[in-house]
Amino acid sequence: MKNFYKKKVLITGHTGLKGSWLSLWLNEHGAKVYGISNNFEENKTNFKNFKMKKKIKNFNIDIRNLKRLKKTIQSVKPNFIFHFAAQSLVGESYKRPIYNFESNFNGTLNLLEVLRLSKFKCIIILITSDKSYRNFEIKRGYVENDILGGDDPYAASKASAEFVINSYFQSFLKNKKNLRIAVCRAGNVIGGGDWSNNRLIPDIMKSIFKRKTLRLRNQNSTRPWQHVLDVLNGYLTLAIKLSKNKKFNGEVFNFGPPETSNYKVIDVVNEIKKNWKLLKWVSSKQKFNESNLLKLNSNKSLRLLKWKNKLQFRQVIKLVTDWYKCLYDKKDIYSFSVNQIKFFLKSK
Ligand SMILES: NC(=O)c1ccc[n+]([C@@H]2O[C@H](COP(=O)([O-])OP(=O)(O)OC[C@H]3O[C@@H](n4cnc5c(N)ncnc54)[C@H](O)[C@@H]3O)[C@@H](O)[C@H]2O)c1
Repeated sequence: MKNFYKKKVLITGHTGLKGSWLSLWLNEHGAKVYGISNNFEENKTNFKNFKMKKKIKNFNIDIRNLKRLKKTIQSVKPNFIFHFAAQSLVGESYKRPIYNFESNFNGTLNLLEVLRLSKFKCIIILITSDKSYRNFEIKRGYVENDILGGDDPYAASKASAEFVINSYFQSFLKNKKNLRIAVCRAGNVIGGGDWSNNRLIPDIMKSIFKRKTLRLRNQNSTRPWQHVLDVLNGYLTLAIKLSKNKKFNGEVFNFGPPETSNYKVIDVVNEIKKNWKLLKWVSSKQKFNESNLLKLNSNKSLRLLKWKNKLQFRQVIKLVTDWYKCLYDKKDIYSFSVNQIKFFLKSK
């Protein structure tokens, strides 16, 4: 992978959790990175932590704007596109359903339309979600050809993005010699720089930064804990395979965590507390209704891409805790983050 990405890479949603880590990773590996997002002046984002303003070429574009998206992509002519830009939170999707659908469905449609009209050679990785699958509350992991659909606006927007991707692929893109596309579905990830609402790690970190006691809900819920770098590694591996072999064109891949990464919320809290004594918490009686999580079957990624998670639960939690600690102590978060990527690359 080392020299492979010394090319033009366009990342939509490059200020978000996944996009920012990928921008940093690829920039460090010599890629010419271009980012498209709509929020990069916000203080707390990794846009600032990773010094992206100076290091990569940024475009402040709303992906709902086809005209601007088209003009920019056609001028950049990227060799790779990673499409992350989306309204990414279920809770927000109830508050702003129109924005949610417009960003996740129309945004993806706009990108596909730009690609339909494109002439430059490009490998495109489209990120949707595990929520694309219709949740039948089954125990087995979902496989790539299971039925799609969703009830909440976020899940429905991701499932409908998949329908439009499939339609554009079948109708226009599969016969275009200059393009190859693939779709990635993953579940929740954790990593430094996430400040989203109603997620455990950001809630814990906000409580420490604000010196408040965390009120912990549903401490016995079991969740899989997967680091953002493990999932990005899957996307990068897929992009390389796709560029080398046309049999991957139009394929969908799951990138889920193994059963061994399932731990209770309380285990995560205890593990963080071991590394960072400032964490103070009490148990809250208030219950938060959480739907049963979808499980992904990632055998296809293991078989065809030789991809699997590298990091174990304790390493994941330590990496995340150390990252926020570094930020809290006002140390050099840029170098620290680069070192986390180096550590990840050395892990087996
Ligand atoms: N983080 C997770 O746990 C997770 C899980 C499953 C799927 N995903 C998917 O992965 C992708 C990236 O997730 P993330 O956690 O990095 O998200 P994030 O919320 O941290 O970042 C989203 C990014 O998209 C940009 N964006 C949102 N709406 C936009 C618009 N209309 N125009 C331009 N830019 C816009 C934001 O500026 C930001 O850069 C998303 O598609 C998300 O749905 C994430």
